[in-house]
Amino acid sequence: MADTAAKKQRMRAATAALKSMQHGPPDGFRVVVCGKGGVGKTTITALLARRLAIRGKKVLAVDEDPQQNLAFSLGYPLEAAEDLIPLSRNFDYVEEKVGARPGEGWGLMLALNPDVTDVVDRFGVRIDEGIDCLVMGSVVQAATGCLCPENALLDAVIRYIRLREDEAILLDTQAGVEHFGRALAEGFSQTLVVTEPGRNSLHVALHAAHLAADLGIPHLHLAVNKTRNDADRTKVEAFLGENHPFESVIYLPFDERVLDTEPSVSTLLDDASPFMEGIAAIEKMLLACSQSDRAVPG
Ligand SMILES: Nc1ncnc2c1ncn2[C@@H]1O[C@H](COP(=O)(O)OP(=O)(O)OP(=O)(O)O)[C@@H](O)[C@H]1O
Ligand SMILES: [Mg+2]
Repeated sequence: MADTAAKKQRMRAATAALKSMQHGPPDGFRVVVCGKGGVGKTTITALLARRLAIRGKKVLAVDEDPQQNLAFSLGYPLEAAEDLIPLSRNFDYVEEKVGARPGEGWGLMLALNPDVTDVVDRFGVRIDEGIDCLVMGSVVQAATGCLCPENALLDAVIRYIRLREDEAILLDTQAGVEHFGRALAEGFSQTLVVTEPGRNSLHVALHAAHLAADLGIPHLHLAVNKTRNDADRTKVEAFLGENHPFESVIYLPFDERVLDTEPSVSTLLDDASPFMEGIAAIEKMLLACSQSDRAVPG
């Protein structure tokens, strides 16, 4: 329990620090997608990215998941997997930017605010005209106060990404919620928490939502994926109760076709299935929130 209290306190301090930075309100379309392992984060992120690109938006899809599936879900060829070098494993770039190579930087003076404006041009993978994908790689969980070179770089990249204008940015995160302990969510205006109907992933979803709210992300949405029947829905509703923190709750059914189309989500895009209707509903909700933020700044 003491641990939880300490974590909350750290989170509040981080929130206050973020607010005091006075960057102004997050603008545009900045969505962090999180939730327990295997619930469908990458599938949903890829489908949203593809749909937004079809709509004419310029999309930057950022993969923070150590499994690095996002590019393949977006349609990047498996044969070209070797070309995908995550930033955290790009030792030369890490050293060039923060002054130390991964594995040797603990306790050294690292450049904490390096200029990473070249990162998407140099390391973004072009999926098609409308979508670039940036593979971040594993984040080492640093003890409080410690920073390793690769984390220093990834933090800088995330801080820089929020400044890119006219782009829809979708951040697919690793399972769990640990990344919220760092300033990763800075500048993101919406959180899409993905869950399955089971209690375990719902617990993680609620935890993630509270952390995101503590970090000051204004919009929280819940996607309940892989629902099989009305009983699932009733269970989720009972679990959430009336005072849950989500602005919207959208249900997506379990659908064998989603499994069948792996790794790329491309063939699902033209489906008129209930699953794709759920994706369309999420997209609509995210777009509506980002538009309302733009209409009423601050
Ligand atoms: N609605 C659905 N119906 C059936 N299968 C689904 C559905 N959504 C996702 N899946 C399948 O569930 C598995 C996990 O999906 P995905 O990789 O998107 O989850 P994830 O949350 O990103 O996982 P991880 O935490 O490992 O990164 C995949 O096999 C995917 O095809
Ligand atoms: Mg994933």
